[in-house]
Amino acid sequence: MAGRAGNEKAPAGNVVPEAVKREVRERMKELEPAFQAAFRYLHQHPELSFQEVETTRYIKKKLLDMGVEVLDIGADTGVVGLLRGGEDGPCIGLRADIDALPIQEASTSPFPSKNDGIMHACGHDVHMTCLLGAAAILSRLRDQIHGSVKFIFEPGEEAVTGSRYMLDRGVLDNPRVDALFGLHNQPLIPSGTVSVHSGPLMAGVDRIHLTITGKGGHGGIPQKNRDPIVAASSFILAAQTIVSRNLSPLDAAVLSICYVNAGSSQVSNVTPESVEMAGTVRTFRSETSAFIEKRLRTLVEEIAAAFGCEGELEYIHDHPFTYDLPALVPAAREAVLGCGAQPIDPEPITASEDFSVFERHVPAYFYWLGTGNEEKDCVYAWHSPHFKADTDILRLGAGTYALSVFTGIEAVKRGLPDEQDLSKL
Ligand code: NI
Repeated sequence: MAGRAGNEKAPAGNVVPEAVKREVRERMKELEPAFQAAFRYLHQHPELSFQEVETTRYIKKKLLDMGVEVLDIGADTGVVGLLRGGEDGPCIGLRADIDALPIQEASTSPFPSKNDGIMHACGHDVHMTCLLGAAAILSRLRDQIHGSVKFIFEPGEEAVTGSRYMLDRGVLDNPRVDALFGLHNQPLIPSGTVSVHSGPLMAGVDRIHLTITGKGGHGGIPQKNRDPIVAASSFILAAQTIVSRNLSPLDAAVLSICYVNAGSSQVSNVTPESVEMAGTVRTFRSETSAFIEKRLRTLVEEIAAAFGCEGELEYIHDHPFTYDLPALVPAAREAVLGCGAQPIDPEPITASEDFSVFERHVPAYFYWLGTGNEEKDCVYAWHSPHFKADTDILRLGAGTYALSVFTGIEAVKRGLPDEQDLSKL
């Protein structure tokens, strides 16, 4: 049933004409060599958070070559591009992160990092390539876009502050972004699949710093001291009961004390004055995060007091959980299917993404792009020196971003929730 774009109706339940999807799929195929070349360059030239100078230069040049306008929001690194469609309409934002990690690459990539000690070990090179790919596809379909597209290349995601850095510079304004889509590669799901999930997908992250202060002295004369190590030991064990005894078994959370420091390994007979601890808390509800903070404070202060010591907690809410807006699920599913990919609904994980910060300001959706492939050695977790993404999925990522613009515009026209009140979840 071939027909001309515009005359052709979308199949029942779908909102984007089949002809548009077919054209996106054709461009995905046609642009494959460009995707591979971009990935190769980006993978070989990783840069650390907020130092993405060459990466920024590369992205700007590519966008300008495609006829995409580059907006100046006053960011030192990172790029914002704008593509105006053939007709006025909603503005859809597409976001990718661009920074790498201080890790020496040990993967089996045929073109490893050229920057010593720095590696795209979280696959942000995949995200940039897919977003540049989407820009290339969309610039060829410009007349068929009834709205505009904002391409957001975020610096410093690994530093946890990248999204706030872009938000503070008004990245969602002028024009105002009506809906935002983001994407992360995911070695835990197979290549050729893309996640279509509803609700929390990745955890919120809080950082904790704890100090228990007692009274140091001779380790052989304990009755003269107030031993902070014994108090800290009791606290660490008691803290494990927050998740196991205070939360509902169905309310997933992690509380890990990852650092303990007191005394000196040089002396075995001195009780120290204080113990320092640090750790991480992961949750999928703001209420759970607030509850854990309250409970931790009670435990550290009161357990320390019971041992004649003083306990102190510093609790930092780094960023909230990543949430797939249910109202955007049909748009996401249609985009994934339109690319010819298999949508799957994976289990959420307790890793995090600062895309969640944008989600508190705009209706948003976050995909996982499957890159798991045993035959190609693409099985290692994010941040591993062996991490390797399957490069055959670049076109699928580009297509998913690109089609999300068309399905997203229709979703906005049909009405999305105005305010993101995720704090109540
Ligand atoms: Ni990442």
